[in-house]
Amino acid sequence: MKKINFIAITIMLSLILSSCGSTQVAGEIGTNSAVQKPSASESTDEPLPKTYDQSSVKVRPDDGRTVIGISMPDKLLERWNHDGTFLKEHFEKEGCEVVLKFANNLIDTQINDIRSMIDEGADLLVITAVDGAALSSILKEAKSQGIKVVAYDRLLMNSDAVDYYVSYDNYKVGVLQAEYIIEALRLKTSRDSKNIEFVTGDPVDNNARYFYQGAVDTLLPYLENGKLRVISNQQGFYETSTAQWSTDIAQQRLQIILNSYYPENVKLDAVLCANDSTALGATRALESDYTGTNKVIVTGQDADVPNIYSIIEGKQSMTVFKALRDESVVAVALGLAILSDDTPDGQLITNSGWGFDCTYNTTDYDNGSKIVPSFLLSPITVTKDNLEEELFDTGYYARNGAGLIYAVE
Ligand code: GAL
Repeated sequence: MKKINFIAITIMLSLILSSCGSTQVAGEIGTNSAVQKPSASESTDEPLPKTYDQSSVKVRPDDGRTVIGISMPDKLLERWNHDGTFLKEHFEKEGCEVVLKFANNLIDTQINDIRSMIDEGADLLVITAVDGAALSSILKEAKSQGIKVVAYDRLLMNSDAVDYYVSYDNYKVGVLQAEYIIEALRLKTSRDSKNIEFVTGDPVDNNARYFYQGAVDTLLPYLENGKLRVISNQQGFYETSTAQWSTDIAQQRLQIILNSYYPENVKLDAVLCANDSTALGATRALESDYTGTNKVIVTGQDADVPNIYSIIEGKQSMTVFKALRDESVVAVALGLAILSDDTPDGQLITNSGWGFDCTYNTTDYDNGSKIVPSFLLSPITVTKDNLEEELFDTGYYARNGAGLIYAVE
């Protein structure tokens, strides 16, 4: 591993922050002024920002390189391409060598990818699992060689080799989707009951369960008092799940539900889709197989480009936006701190000056072997009404000369 230059870290972080737009942080944590000019009272009890003294770096035998292995699940789902790019670019800016691989949503491929990263001298692994529970043995190998492991976006299960977890507040994603439906269907005030169907996520993705639980917990009062009905009676996590977050599987399942339970006189009011790839399948099924004339509420997540068009065209109602650039900023800062043999905690946020919300959590993410210390960012709801402001004015998305939308990398 090559010794890390602290000054370079600071420059890099400020560069990343300056590129992250200027959304103000809730509360006092993270505003530049707080970090650089701590108030008098603070300087007495608040420790000054930790400097990463290179001599403390001892994770793997020093081979003069800092190698980061980044293992992404898949290229078909739009977001992982962006995550991979952001992470690679930020670590490389830091003089780290990056090995970035995509596993085609195949468990064996991901295990081989990680093994080759270990063989190539990785000091840190940043992994988004295809199947969160399928990597415990290769992670054990990594740990035995002193390699640090960060679970990126999806928690790695049943392994004590996981040092940290970086993600968005996954439970809140489901809450935001459900709250949108409660609002849009006026469930708090209307007397009539409404009909909903669920299209949840990949059952081997630990996040899918949090999305589902957040949504169901929020809708429960209405499901219990009959204001919200599931005509197909498919409400459980597994029976509503979508393997590999597949658009086609989501489309086919909803087409069967529409043809089986929604004849002419039965209205469907909402489809709670856990993410945008499934929402795309749902809107296609509604276009081809729904006989009703009402506008069906459809939720989503990720702000994938095709779904931004669907929202502009009114086919999809909302998406839960998670700024991937910000998530990678946290992962890189965390990775560098770990490689400096530090044990980062909430101070990493306090000292960061990040222009976005992030909380340090040491209670909620039990991976079956340990409670993994987690850095959680805060997702937001994006609709036709705030889309320009939240996605384009912030610089996360742009339009090219022909007016086509693209995610800014
Ligand atoms: C989840 C992730 C979501 C969504 C989904 C499908 O793990 O948190 O943002 O992308 O995977 O890829």
